[in-house]
Amino acid sequence: MQIKFTETVLRDANQSLIATRMPFGEFEKILPALDNAGYYSLECWGGATFDSCLRYLNEDPWERLRKIKAVCKKTKLQMLLRGQNLLGYKHYPDDAVELFVQKSVENGIDVIRIFDALNDLRNVETATKAALKAGAEVQGTICYTISPIHNTESYIEVAKGWKKLGAQMLCIKDMAGIMSPKDAYDIVRVLKKAVDMPVVVHTHATTGLAFMTYLKAAEAGCDVIDTAISCFSGGTAQPATETLNYVLGEYGFETGLNKNLLREINAFFKPYRAKCLESGMLNPIVMGTDTDALDYQIPGGMLSNLVAQLTAQNKLDKLDEVLAEVPNVRKDLGYPPLVTPMSQMVGVQATSNVLYGRYKNISKEIKSYIKGEYGKAPGEISKELQKMILGDEEPIKGRYADLLEPIVEKTRKELGSKAQSDEDVLSYIAFPQLADKFFDEREAQRRKTVSYTIKAVD
Ligand code: CO
Repeated sequence: MQIKFTETVLRDANQSLIATRMPFGEFEKILPALDNAGYYSLECWGGATFDSCLRYLNEDPWERLRKIKAVCKKTKLQMLLRGQNLLGYKHYPDDAVELFVQKSVENGIDVIRIFDALNDLRNVETATKAALKAGAEVQGTICYTISPIHNTESYIEVAKGWKKLGAQMLCIKDMAGIMSPKDAYDIVRVLKKAVDMPVVVHTHATTGLAFMTYLKAAEAGCDVIDTAISCFSGGTAQPATETLNYVLGEYGFETGLNKNLLREINAFFKPYRAKCLESGMLNPIVMGTDTDALDYQIPGGMLSNLVAQLTAQNKLDKLDEVLAEVPNVRKDLGYPPLVTPMSQMVGVQATSNVLYGRYKNISKEIKSYIKGEYGKAPGEISKELQKMILGDEEPIKGRYADLLEPIVEKTRKELGSKAQSDEDVLSYIAFPQLADKFFDEREAQRRKTVSYTIKAVD
């Protein structure tokens, strides 16, 4: 019996516990140990890392990836990609998606985990084709959620779709940490039987289920689990690598992990963790176990957003009403999984419904969703709501990206000499303002270096 581990300290744990603020310099020296520890892969890119590099860390995300690859040559490097949304929050034209995926692989990515918030596979097709063409391994993702229309049969449908697209592996993605051990066991078993593909389970420790969930997933034949080195584990991040290695080892699973190196990796990150706690970047609240998500069946991150929204308006006393409204809004929208960006959209609408009356205000995003611009809703959208927004207009039936004009050539021309590479063009397409600021700072830095050089000659 074998089970492999994907280490998330550089991406998901970093994102979940300290808002993706870990600079390259804080983990550079431990990369050789991470590469040698025997992981299936290192999740180190994508998700919010790209945004955070440009926005907060003044790092070129592409350069970060190249620097990781220069050291990590044994273990596969993995990224998370939001399908047609790439690493952002809107749909990009196909030419941008194709080039982005190609460049990700060229710069060092081996495994691309691709997902769509609605499990609408039309939104992952372009990225998947590009990834396979570039020689990457595709983990076709099924966003897990709890609703009256999501069940093992509906997940099998998505899994079959992924197999048809050519994905080599499946990932069951539980972004909220609400997948129970029982559900994990049932889904993994059924999926493996139905599609005969290696299965990865991804969850978060938020509600305290995760250790048990992984154990039962392993019993059901799951091939890879996502964990975080212990001092960056738990709470809203993944459960601890070392603990699961210990337990699964005891049950006779071969994990291939080197215990001494795991100890070394954990010892390396401990002082950084202490520094994060001290500066307040790591809030002890996110480290705890929060079972509210089990009652409300919404992600912990969404719950804290709702609390923040209501507090800002001095309406925290309405929290219970808003929590009761969330399932109604979700039903009206055809039960979208509560993952970015749907979790934010549903939360804001539920709050607005309680504070100002049902659908008195409807956000631009919800309108686009009902027009079909995000893809196909998993269930039926309320006819009444549809009528309210579209009138007699028909929603889009096809794939939204088919309506988008190519953007790469146009942006390349627009940027001129400001962009030094295709990677720069892509950074700009993904995050225009942030990339622009980054290019200016890079140029200023370059000039400084040049003038120093001249001084030295003087
Ligand atoms: Co996650």
